[in-house]
Amino acid sequence: MASLIDGSTITASNVSQRFRRADGQLVNALASVSFTIPEGQFVCLVGPSGCGKSTLLQVMSGLLAATDGTLEVGNKRVTQPAPERGVVFQKDSVFPWLRVIDNVEYGLKCAGVAKGRRREIAEHYLERVGLSHVSRAWPRELSGGMLKRVAIATVFANGANVLMLDEPFGALDYVTRRQLQEVLLTLWGETTGSGHRRTVIFVTHDVDEALLLADRVLVLRGGRLVDDLAVAAPRPRNTDSLLRADLVQAKHTLLNHLGLERSHA
Ligand SMILES: Nc1ncnc2c1ncn2[C@@H]1O[C@H](COP(=O)(O)OP(=O)(O)O)[C@@H](O)[C@H]1O
Ligand SMILES: [Mg+2]
Repeated sequence: MASLIDGSTITASNVSQRFRRADGQLVNALASVSFTIPEGQFVCLVGPSGCGKSTLLQVMSGLLAATDGTLEVGNKRVTQPAPERGVVFQKDSVFPWLRVIDNVEYGLKCAGVAKGRRREIAEHYLERVGLSHVSRAWPRELSGGMLKRVAIATVFANGANVLMLDEPFGALDYVTRRQLQEVLLTLWGETTGSGHRRTVIFVTHDVDEALLLADRVLVLRGGRLVDDLAVAAPRPRNTDSLLRADLVQAKHTLLNHLGLERSHA
């Protein structure tokens, strides 16, 4: 019987994460977080610093085992990292000792993909992110924005059907950030080889970025999921989209969650 759950539907059920700090104090980084993200959705995860965003992403990627609760992708419980779940961190996830193309190919090489085929895939995604001209360069020769493009090309080349990005563009200037948002949205708009839409979880504390990118914004505060906003504005969106009444309203709601505004009556 066909499963009702697509290959990249994400289901979190009462996920909790406790840490013990060096001073012995217990921290509830995540407290009974539950949600379902259907295949193909672009979700932004927003919340004040220390609210548990990175912890949630680490649990979702399999880098961290939750203290309680379960996390499933498709029907499979997440217990360890896997190439079908690609992660991009704020800090560059690029190996400095490998040329750009070898970075993009690395995961495929580890997965045993034949040389010719993996080169073809890497070249394809480098072209898609606009980096064909530096494929033989060393990472140290690239700007911060270009390194992010390498990281994006790499997760797509590895065949990820779920992408998790933790404040990936936070350290970039405004123009570079907007260009990278476009690159990511364009690639997200394309289906995988098997015809599936990729699911994206994108952590940001930039409210405008969330509203430009997301189908849906999940808000975490103090380790709890406190809001779940649908962003129905049509795509493609641009800065004018942010002036739409629904997005202005959503922006006030999100700023309020971040503690920047009192609630708008
Ligand atoms: N490895 C750890 N050991 C102890 N405390 C941690 C650890 N990782 C995160 N924390 C704590 O958990 C809470 C959530 O952290 P984090 O997920 O990094 O928040 P965010 O990404 O939203 O800024 C914070 O109070 C942080 O200090
Ligand atoms: Mg974080």
